[in-house]
Amino acid sequence: GTTLGASAAERGRYFGAAIAAFKLSDSTYVGILNREFNSVTPENEMKWDATEPSQGSFSYGNADRIVNHAQANGMRIRGHALLWHAQQPGWAQNMSGSALRSAAINHVTQVATKYRGKIHSWDVVNEAFADGSGGGRRDSNLQRTGNDWIEAAFRAARAADPNAKLCYNDYNTDGINAKSTGIYNMVQDFKSRGVPIDCVGFQSHLSNSVPSDYQANLQRFANLGVDVQITELDISGSNQAAVYATVTNACLAVSRCNGITVWGIRDSDSWRTGQNPLLFDSSGNKKAAYTSTLNAL
Ligand code: XIL
Repeated sequence: GTTLGASAAERGRYFGAAIAAFKLSDSTYVGILNREFNSVTPENEMKWDATEPSQGSFSYGNADRIVNHAQANGMRIRGHALLWHAQQPGWAQNMSGSALRSAAINHVTQVATKYRGKIHSWDVVNEAFADGSGGGRRDSNLQRTGNDWIEAAFRAARAADPNAKLCYNDYNTDGINAKSTGIYNMVQDFKSRGVPIDCVGFQSHLSNSVPSDYQANLQRFANLGVDVQITELDISGSNQAAVYATVTNACLAVSRCNGITVWGIRDSDSWRTGQNPLLFDSSGNKKAAYTSTLNAL
């Protein structure tokens, strides 16, 4: 293929980008998006603060703009993210206990129902594990509602949108380490008890290198019976082009790796300001990392 999306499709995968609704009026941006990508993730527009700014009052304008663009152009949609400790609306940040639990599960039900049938994969829960060597949960208002909050969220999402793949998504889980093993143990437990989970997302915010056991880590999750996806890829540093190729090859080597999403289109679109971690430069030109990725596909 001559584009990322077409080449990935030839390999039975998608190639996606995180996009922002407010950039859909930028013709350079949309030109690259429509030419190269066959999947999108709303960068911020489906987060809790965006979709439920006051409790029980839902706001879908910007999320709908992205969904409509994707549907009109035959792109898949990764929904991101139903529950997360960050980017919560103020009202939720101030809640706790059973009131927060009910509000969180209602949020999952409402948003997943709103987009029922339109989402290829949902990040149901984002970043719920702690960094470091403990392998345990991150402290958060959601975690303090009880350790079963993650499975409650997955059950609610399945009931609301039975055909979406339901993913757990996190960062610093790119190699085999205490954090990824904590998630591995949770997935194994969910599978053994029939808690619905279909996929694990590996954000893959990388700095110039990738752990040597990256592919092995993807494969051990796949062996549990879930799909794996590279969900927020961006790579800083002088070794960027080679690392993009390594990550792409790792996904292609794991049959249950569904696809790759980069976290933005041009370097100027990146949340990692000044690090130039993406595939297109700020003028929209293809970088060496683009070519190495396309060649790997
Ligand atoms: C980032 C967005 O890119 C920024 O625009 C926003 O200000 C903060 O969030 N992990 C995630 C993403 O799961 O939602 C984050 O996105 C980047 C880290």
